[in-house]
Amino acid sequence: MRLSCGCLLVLFVKIPSFCLVGSQDDEDAPPSPPFGVGPLPPKNTPGCPANCTCPSEETVECGGLDLHVFPSNVSRAVQHLSLQNNQLRELPYDELAQLTSLKTLNLHNNHIISDGLPDEAFESLDSLQYIYLANNKLTVAPQILPSTVRIVDLAANLLTEVYPLTFGQKANLRSVYLHNNQLTNTGLPYDAFNGSDAVSTMILSSNQLSYLPQNLPPALVRLHLQNNRIARIPRGALSSHWKLRELYLQNNNLSNQGMDPSTFSKLKSLEYLDLSNNNLTEIPAGFPPNIMILHLGKNRIDSLLPRDSLSRVRGLQYLLLQNNRLTAAGVHPDAFLKLRNLHTLHLYNNRLERVPPGLPRRVRSLMILHNQITHIGLPDFANTYLLAELNLSYNRLYSAKIHRLAFRKLRRLESLDLSGNQLTLLPAGLPPSLQVLKLHKNQINSLSPELLANLTGLKELHLAHNRLRIGSITPGTWQELQGLKLLDLSNNELSYIPPDLPESLEYLYLQHNRIAVIGAEAFHTIPDIRAIVLSCQDSAAWFHAGAASYALALRFRGADGQELGHSRPAAPVHALHDGCQLRQGQARTVLEVRSSRPEQLPLTDVAVPDFGAANQKFGFELGPVCFTG
Ligand SMILES: *[C@@H]1O[C@H](CO)[C@@H](O)[C@H](O)[C@H]1NC(C)=O
Ligand SMILES: *[C@@H]1O[C@H](CO)[C@@H](O)[C@H](O)[C@H]1NC(C)=O
Ligand SMILES: *[C@@H]1O[C@H](CO)[C@@H](O)[C@H](O)[C@H]1NC(C)=O
Ligand SMILES: *[C@@H]1O[C@H](CO)[C@@H](O)[C@H](O)[C@H]1NC(C)=O
Ligand SMILES: *[C@@H]1O[C@H](CO)[C@@H](O)[C@H](O)[C@H]1NC(C)=O
Ligand SMILES: *[C@@H]1O[C@H](CO)[C@@H](O)[C@H](O)[C@H]1NC(C)=O
Ligand SMILES: *[C@@H]1O[C@H](CO)[C@@H](O)[C@H](O)[C@H]1NC(C)=O
Repeated sequence: MRLSCGCLLVLFVKIPSFCLVGSQDDEDAPPSPPFGVGPLPPKNTPGCPANCTCPSEETVECGGLDLHVFPSNVSRAVQHLSLQNNQLRELPYDELAQLTSLKTLNLHNNHIISDGLPDEAFESLDSLQYIYLANNKLTVAPQILPSTVRIVDLAANLLTEVYPLTFGQKANLRSVYLHNNQLTNTGLPYDAFNGSDAVSTMILSSNQLSYLPQNLPPALVRLHLQNNRIARIPRGALSSHWKLRELYLQNNNLSNQGMDPSTFSKLKSLEYLDLSNNNLTEIPAGFPPNIMILHLGKNRIDSLLPRDSLSRVRGLQYLLLQNNRLTAAGVHPDAFLKLRNLHTLHLYNNRLERVPPGLPRRVRSLMILHNQITHIGLPDFANTYLLAELNLSYNRLYSAKIHRLAFRKLRRLESLDLSGNQLTLLPAGLPPSLQVLKLHKNQINSLSPELLANLTGLKELHLAHNRLRIGSITPGTWQELQGLKLLDLSNNELSYIPPDLPESLEYLYLQHNRIAVIGAEAFHTIPDIRAIVLSCQDSAAWFHAGAASYALALRFRGADGQELGHSRPAAPVHALHDGCQLRQGQARTVLEVRSSRPEQLPLTDVAVPDFGAANQKFGFELGPVCFTG
């Protein structure tokens, strides 16, 4: 067996991204209808309508057939009739009325208009349980649906009106999907859900409601009302809904005047409440105690006070207050005092001029970026022992205004983001638990071993866009960083590759510096390196298109000491993509080294002949050696 091995010179690195908790809107997706266009064997029972599939007498599948008319000859015994993804405009009364065994009627994605739906036909369908009519052209809901229905999906139509017996008097009704319609409060009568006391899911998002409808069924567990124009919640509208667990009211026009202290107070089971993107100026009154996730972002809230009902939500775990108008003076030191379960607090994009006092003691993740914080004092993080993730990026912090012991109590801190500030030095006293330290976009102009001395667990150090020069990096700086895997020094003022890099390094970013010479030993201390990123700017990496030659191309030296390049016979190096050949602006060249002589790899050195002009920058990324065979 001939062993061949390759070395790919570009690698893309994924850096963990910031995630918001309580991910939004699976926009109310109803459960999919129980059957559809699966690859069924075309084994039909006799009498199956033309082109349809009938696995049994009870099941007739005519989905996606471009049908313009209702299929003739549907068996009267049919229980599940599937007609989704067709071109139907109307359903014939005579034929529909005869399908008295029908349990499931799937008409998703047709062109059915309200006049094309024979309301009276439904009266005889007294086994019907599941009606799927989403994505049609209905302008009003059916007048009467059978009392047997369990799930009704009328989403994404043009509905302006629902009738008392559309959903009313249905003892078995569980789920109602009405999102993406044009319903106003006038179109939803007061008794729309009379006698339908078992409804647990109600989706009314993306309509034109201006207040929260009254007389919603009492057994509701999930209520979606986001993306309406709701400006008020009438007194008592949510007074009997003690089973409600999730309430979505984001993207409406709710103001504090539109609610009263009893609005939410009876919702004993409420765990998730989203009031983001409304018109609140203060914390609403009367929150029930069991809410776990509370979204209040994107309002106009400017204060947090101990008398706010927020301070009594003892089950609270996630509190999202980003994009408001909070100042530190507006946050009372006792505002979070009783929130013993609060572990995630988002305060980004407010007007905080310092870290607010009295942070919740159990907070693990604190997002306080994009404020106007200028200093960090000794007491600011004195009690938040459990903090693991602290994001202070894009504030106005100066090195001289960060107390040298400010972070010393944070023994569990794993990730600290101070990027986008005005720091000139690394902060002192960082805890050894730290794994990710982000300091890009500051004014850092020196690095010394003392400040990194205890960071033995550090895996990523981001120092891009600072003012580092080789001469200002004290020898021994990297010495203690024995676990460092990623070092980003791009966009600094380095003139050569810093020496004595930690052995553990796998990713090294050096693009946009002033590196003109790469010494033969530059990478000797980093045997595990997977990617070195420089970049080519106005420099030919492989083929010089202007001169139609390879004379300026890179040359590599293999592990066996031999030089590799295009000029050598049976060149193992070839360009997969040579973006640098035009020698214009920034581009990248991807070179692949394939060799049947494993002793050549990994590469140990690179020569850059076309280099030296002031505007030229050059870089490369080294990929891993892969063995195939
Ligand atoms: C309808 O079904 C019957 C048998 O049930 C069959 O004889 C007849 O040809 C079918 N008609 C059409 C139009 O398919
Ligand atoms: C069945 O499919 C064929 C071929 O696509 C088409 O010509 C025919 O009109 C279809 N029949 C019906 C009843 O849709
Ligand atoms: C709905 O309930 C109210 C009061 O419970 C009653 O007055 C009204 O007649 C009912 N409407 C229907 C359609 O049942
Ligand atoms: C929001 O409600 C206020 C009254 O509280 C009203 O003046 C304003 O027009 C409403 N805005 C929208 C977009 O509906
Ligand atoms: C917020 O409410 C005020 C009155 O309280 C109103 O003037 C303003 O238009 C509302 N804002 C929006 C975005 O509707
Ligand atoms: C801090 O927040 C910013 C913005 O969301 C994000 O890009 C960055 O990754 C966060 N920092 C950390 C360490 O997670
Ligand atoms: C490093 O840790 C030791 C022992 O915990 C401590 O005495 C020393 O002050 C720390 N150094 C820095 C720079 O934080």
